Amino acid sequence: MGVGIIGIGKYVPDKVLTNFDLEKLVDTSDEWIRTRTGIEERRIADDQTNTSDMAYEAAKQALEDAGLTGQDLDLILVATVTPDYGFPSVASLIQGKLQATKAAAMDISAACAGFIYGMVTAKQFIETNVYKNILVVGVEKLSKITNWEDRNTAVLFGDAASAAVIGKVSEGKGILSFELGSDGTKAKELFQDGPHIYMNGREVFKFAVRQMGDSSVNVVEKAGLAKEDIDHLIPHQANIRIMEAARERLELPEEKMIKTVHKYGNTSSSSIPLALCDAVESGRIKDNDLLVLVGFGGGLTWGALTLRWGK
Ligand code: ACO
Repeated sequence: MGVGIIGIGKYVPDKVLTNFDLEKLVDTSDEWIRTRTGIEERRIADDQTNTSDMAYEAAKQALEDAGLTGQDLDLILVATVTPDYGFPSVASLIQGKLQATKAAAMDISAACAGFIYGMVTAKQFIETNVYKNILVVGVEKLSKITNWEDRNTAVLFGDAASAAVIGKVSEGKGILSFELGSDGTKAKELFQDGPHIYMNGREVFKFAVRQMGDSSVNVVEKAGLAKEDIDHLIPHQANIRIMEAARERLELPEEKMIKTVHKYGNTSSSSIPLALCDAVESGRIKDNDLLVLVGFGGGLTWGALTLRWGK
């Protein structure tokens, strides 16, 4: 028996904010943003749509894709750094909306690595036969903590939700290996204190390039596989230059990396599952494909896993 993804879903707000729109808000240019980050546009949720509303939409889709209802869920894990409230958790809010009356619920705070942390946590409960079906959501309304006057950060982020139902899959499929980590000595390189995000872009960049590469290589080795076995790399969609560095470290051709950063920006905990969902929907990811998911974020945290796609 393996533990893997049995349903997947996503939600992105309709409103598109382009680099040209940002040129009117801060001293920047489409050219700077595209060449330094790879981002062309991002989605922004309206005032009426909070984090839990987006999470709920993605969750409904994932449950439908899995052929399940809220009643079938044993646990809901929501990875987010932009919850609706200090408490209760976003997980509790969507547990109520989904009428998932048998499910326990909690949020995970691991920033952009949050979805990987969530998947790995879900795996433990299923492998030990404690729970059967676990909903893992990665969701952010980063627009509400973005300082729209700070060009260093305002151009980077977007809003989105993605969800996966984690359950039992056939032997040899699902999560084959993982790595999680944190370096709290770098906590102040990327954090939120008060209303806005603060980021030391250069430090985070250096850390990310090294960590994404190291973690990807580690999980491939842990699974007893070789770089050539990888069909798709799905890195955290923070910056195309960081993503490219991870791809080069794995010696993969361009077409093996899934890229959505140009159209959604950095959606933190939602970014990896959002890219995965897009690639599954477009038919790019096929049964039995080997995926490497890898992310890093505030903490600083990181996480990676190898996943054999399919049920
Ligand atoms: N438009 C125009 N100029 C800008 C902008 C902008 N939007 N932002 C910064 N600049 C300027 C800077 O002020 C600086 O000017 P100076 O040299 O006169 O001081 C110049 O551009 C170069 O700045 P750098 O920081 O060297 O630019 P760099 O090429 O490193 O790119 C970036 C900056 C894109 C932020 C990069 O450092 C990066 O991607 N870092 C990692 C960010 C990241 O991945 N964060 C993850 C967050 S995930 C989470 O947990 C939420």
